[in-house]
This record gives sequence, C-alpha cells and structure tokens, in this order.
Amino acid sequence: MDKFIIEGGTPLKGEVEISGSKNAALPIITACLLAPGEYRLHNIPKLRDVRTIAHLMRIIGAKVELAEHTMLVDTSHADFPEAPYELVKTMRASIYVLGPLLARFGRARVSLPGGCAWGPRPVDLHLKGMESLGAKIELDQGYINARSKRLAGKQIYLDVSSVGATGNIMMAATLAKGTTLIENAAEEPEIVNLGEFLIRMGAKIEGLGSKRIHIKGVESLHPTEFSIIPDRIESGTYLAAAMISRGEITLKGCEPGHLSEVLAKFREAGAEINIGESGVQLAAAGAIKPVNITTAVYPGYPTDMQAQWVALMSIAAGSSVVTDTIYSDRFAHVPELQRLGADVLQKGNSVFIRGVKKLKGAPVMSTDLRASASLVLAALAAEGVSDIHRVYHIDRGYEAIVDKLKKLGAKIERADDGMQY
Ligand code: EPZ
Repeated sequence: MDKFIIEGGTPLKGEVEISGSKNAALPIITACLLAPGEYRLHNIPKLRDVRTIAHLMRIIGAKVELAEHTMLVDTSHADFPEAPYELVKTMRASIYVLGPLLARFGRARVSLPGGCAWGPRPVDLHLKGMESLGAKIELDQGYINARSKRLAGKQIYLDVSSVGATGNIMMAATLAKGTTLIENAAEEPEIVNLGEFLIRMGAKIEGLGSKRIHIKGVESLHPTEFSIIPDRIESGTYLAAAMISRGEITLKGCEPGHLSEVLAKFREAGAEINIGESGVQLAAAGAIKPVNITTAVYPGYPTDMQAQWVALMSIAAGSSVVTDTIYSDRFAHVPELQRLGADVLQKGNSVFIRGVKKLKGAPVMSTDLRASASLVLAALAAEGVSDIHRVYHIDRGYEAIVDKLKKLGAKIERADDGMQY
C-alpha cells in the first residue's frame, strides 16, 4: 500500500491545472448506456474512480478506452445489465448504472452499495424514483433486482435533494413515456453538466440548476461528443493548500462560478482572491481568521470541502465551528488531525476548533477521500514530517496530486508503506 511522506512548512507557489470533475464524469459515463454507439468524452480526469466505472461499463459489455484525458465509450454491444458487489462495494457511484440500464434494457441487477467509511449511505430515493417511473424493484441477497416495461413519466418529490438520485432519475426519465418532474432536485453543477450531456444526446430537459427539473421522454437518444466541467472540489482543495501553507497559487482551468460560497469563505478568512484571465489566484495574507461554516446543498458550502476547512481552521487565530448538515458523521479526519496537534472536538454533526499556532508532523491514516485531503493539507502546514497511510483513498478523486503539489513546491513523496493490510 502507498503512503505520502510530507515535510511541512513550505509556502506553495505557482500554477496548478485543475482536472475534469469526478462527480460529473461518473454519471456522464454511465449515461452512454442510454443509446448504443460511440461517444467521445473530453476532460476526463485520470482517477481510480474513473477506472472503476470504466471496469463496470466493460462488465456490462461496453468498450471503454481512456487516452490522455479523452475517453472513448462504445455501448453498441452493451447487453449485460448487472453491477456486481465486488465492484459496487468499492464505489457507491456505481449505482448510476441503475437508471440507464432500466431505461435501455428494462431490467437491472445492481448490488446495494456498502456503507462508506463514514457510515451507511442509503439509496432509498433512487429506488423510490425508479418505482415512481413504473419499475418493479426487489431486494434480494444484497442486490437490487429491477424490471420495467417502458418507464412512464411521473411527478417525483425528493425528500432530500440527493445528487445521485436526481442524476439517476433524470437519466431514466429521458426515455420514459411522457413527462417527468423532479421536485426538490439537486442543483449541483455536476448534475447540470449531466443534464447538458443528455440534451446533447437528444433528451428534452428544462430547469437544470433549479429545484424543479422537467424531462419530456423521447423515443430514442443518440451518441455525442462532450467535455466535462472542471472539478470544483479539487479547485477548493488547492486553494486551501495555498492558504494553509501561507503561499500564493493560481488555478488554471477552474470554474469560479461553481465556487462562489467557498471563495467567499476564503475571503472571510483573510485570503486575497483575484479572478482573471489567468485563472483564480489565492494569496494568503496575514493570519488565518476563524470562520464558521455550515455545509448545505448547492449553492451552499459543499460537504466535500468540510474536512478541508476543518484542517485550515485548526491553525486559525481563534475558535470556529464547522457543521455538516448533509452527512451527520463525516468526521473520520478529526481524530487524525488531533494526532497532528489540532485542538478539535466533534460533538454530533459539528466540530469545535480552537486554532493552534503550529501543527506537528506525525504518522496518520486516511479513511476516505476528503478526509485524506484534509490530512495532506494539515501535513503541508505542520512542522516536521508526516506519513499519511492508505492514500489509495486520495487517488480516487485527486489526479496526479503528488506531481501537482511538487510543482507548487511541496516536499512530498509517495512511498510503499510496506504494510500489508
Ligand atoms: C454525491 O454523492 C457525491 N458523489 C458526493 O461526493 C457528495 O458528498 C454528495 O453528492 C453530496 O454533495 C458523487 O457525485 C459521485 P447524495 P451522493 O445522494 O449522490 C442522503 C466525493 O467526495 N440520501 O446527495 O451519494 C444521503 O445519506 C463524494 O466526491 C438518502 O437519504 O450524495 C446524504 O445524507 C463523497 N437517500 C444526503 O442524502 C438516498 O437515496 C446527500 O446524499 C440518497 C441520498
């Protein structure tokens, strides 16, 4: 297994290229199942999760090739509507094949995702959505067995503005008979990008980026070529790296419009932010001011940036509170940050942080994707050397993170930690 060895204390400086969005790429890749043929997808990030979804698409019978950042997908011969447990347990987003398989083949056998490191993650809204569209759903030995004649459009109200459920229902509804209205829909940019892809395939969708998405079913869709939006969470993570290391960096290829709330919080914490032709620049200026955040659905502060903010606030000049309203137990990073000397206390779905002058390097362990990012940030600021174990978590969502950080001046190496887990 790999680990990162990071020697903290170097202010990061320079430019970093932002990769394509993981959370837009994953559903867009599965959406290629909706119509047979060849697709060309650009700005696809080179990530473990992308390799996982490509593997799943091949099991279903699609051809998938990734050359540089362009992915060629051919679903002409896709004919095996199954997503096995061995794969789904490694990545919850595999559930994104459910909608497309039902819409195209009228049946699907998809494993229920295992719980993530921070607790079980239900898919009830996905299943209710498919049933609303007319599918018969049975759960059997950890699998979702779904069957349907042609799906029929329906008005669907989501109890929670679930990103995944919105995406799955929207994909399925594109080929349903009649109109579907998704209420309390997710407004995340990744769902908007998925919707734009579906429209490029011939789908009739209105209301993207709002709480009410109308989908008018069509008889068939067709393959297309498309480019994925940049990753807003990768962008926010590198801005946090500049801030926590007291440096100055410019993000190339980032979409600041997807980061308004995050940029506002960095400014509140004292960062100087310039948005110009050359990209989004953050310069750390003076002490880090303590700033409270409460996560919310888009356009609120993203839960996927919660762990990173806790790391940043751990060396702020004062106390702050971070509350996650999306996940009640996404705090596996807290005990690891304590090992680095952070004065953080989790109570319920909040973390109470008292800024300390200095963090001290130590061995720590990654537990999930964004917790790992938070540990890298803290290690970049800490005095001395930190070993971060189980970094396969971070490879799921951050393309070439060691190279990108090295290019910014970070003292980071990837090494084999010699431990067999
Ligand atoms: C997406 O996950 C993202 N993943 C997550 O990013 C992100 O944290 C999350 O949205 C919230 O923004 C991808 O896009 C691949 P949800 P998703 O359904 O779709 C509850 C990362 O770090 N819920 O919006 O699984 C759920 O328990 C990952 O890149 C139900 O109750 O999230 C949670 O409390 C981690 N029933 C809330 O909704 C359901 O059927 C939001 O979940 C589905 C969800």
